[in-house]
Amino acid sequence: MTSIKKEMYHDIITGFSKLNKDEKIKFISQFFKSPHQTEEEIRSYWYIDPHIQQRFDEFSENTISNFYMPYSLAPNFLINDQMYIVPMVIEESSVVAAASHAAKYWAERGGFHSEIIATEKLGQVHFYWEGNPQKLQELFPKFKVKCLQETTGITENMRKRGGGIKDISLRNMSEVERNYYQIWASFDTCDSMGANFINTCLETFAHCLIDFFETDADLRTEKKPQIIMSILSNYTPNCLVRTWVACPIEQLTGFGTLSAQEFAWRFERAVHIARIDPYRAATHNKGIFNGIDAVVLATGNDFRAVEAGGHTFACRDGHYRSLSQVSLSGGMFNFSLTLPLALGVVGGLTNLHPMVKCSLELLQNPSSETLMMIASAAGLANNFSAVRSLTTTGIQKGHMKMHLYNMLNHFTATEEQKNLAVEHFKDHVISYNAVRTFLEELQN
Ligand code: MEV
Repeated sequence: MTSIKKEMYHDIITGFSKLNKDEKIKFISQFFKSPHQTEEEIRSYWYIDPHIQQRFDEFSENTISNFYMPYSLAPNFLINDQMYIVPMVIEESSVVAAASHAAKYWAERGGFHSEIIATEKLGQVHFYWEGNPQKLQELFPKFKVKCLQETTGITENMRKRGGGIKDISLRNMSEVERNYYQIWASFDTCDSMGANFINTCLETFAHCLIDFFETDADLRTEKKPQIIMSILSNYTPNCLVRTWVACPIEQLTGFGTLSAQEFAWRFERAVHIARIDPYRAATHNKGIFNGIDAVVLATGNDFRAVEAGGHTFACRDGHYRSLSQVSLSGGMFNFSLTLPLALGVVGGLTNLHPMVKCSLELLQNPSSETLMMIASAAGLANNFSAVRSLTTTGIQKGHMKMHLYNMLNHFTATEEQKNLAVEHFKDHVISYNAVRTFLEELQN
């Protein structure tokens, strides 16, 4: 296998997963201009401690190295009168600066306020059945008891922690699709995100359904149901957090020549536009997820699940809208964010990834509810900073300032050149060309 040539690039590769890590690296290095250098580079990102590296390797399949992302801190997050230094993992310049800036701004104005509206998770068993829906509905309570009995072993630990299966019901979906039903289940997964727990319960319900049709005297003669799939839903509208900042409008100072009233008006219009126009809403919400995803990643949570649930929630009335809202009534500026956030602080990567442990400790080992509040505060902070920049100076000023380092690194500038460039570009427009010319002039 290691003798595969470049021209075989389009061949189907078999047995790749069976190779050990070194063999995998050797194999892929052939596809690079400098195989030896590539191999060394890949190995250079291994963790020093081989035990921890093995742990990383085992998170996923076919792992050959680690992919580095900046691990940053945003201080001064005052949330419900408790101060936090928030860890953020994100590659995009200026997100952490924006979060930190907004956190400090609002810490001086009472901080973030946050409340958990609900923490229920959902899952479904999707199946087709040809028969009398009423009969199924009548027998469902009996089936539910069977499901609860069959899952007692699976739910035992979760029940001890105060969670478990909250409800199981039958949804007749035949108005949407002929003969289509769902076993609809809700769960309390306490401090864990609970995906594995939910999916194990759901797959057990599916087996129970087949078994129920085979053994129940009233159903034995009926057609058998066709189970299509059993899976949690990443749309968790009942696992909801609301976070807001508020202050008298006149306290909205610090925006150059713009008065507090003018700023509030422009800000409110910008958020309103994101509520009525999906094109703007997508970018507006992306700005919210800049903050949320960075915290979700730093705490070892599933950012794809969080994004999926958030965007679905954003179009819950059939129109994709901003997740945040502003009100300017009674002389008060009130800026809030409500969204579903299914997060965990136990299970998954939380005990395995050293930096996740570090994040959770830095956040004073929060409960999953507190983490929901922290992540949503980061989302609101980034949203505030983005809309503030957009409606005042424009976004590029701050963004390019942070991006300057990326450009300087791209041109392999020395430390001294970097310092000179930072000084120079304080009052010059930053662009790739401008940075290149500046460095060329320095070298000459
Ligand atoms: C960039 O990552 C995020 C923004 O585009 C968000 C927004 O437009 O509100 C600045």
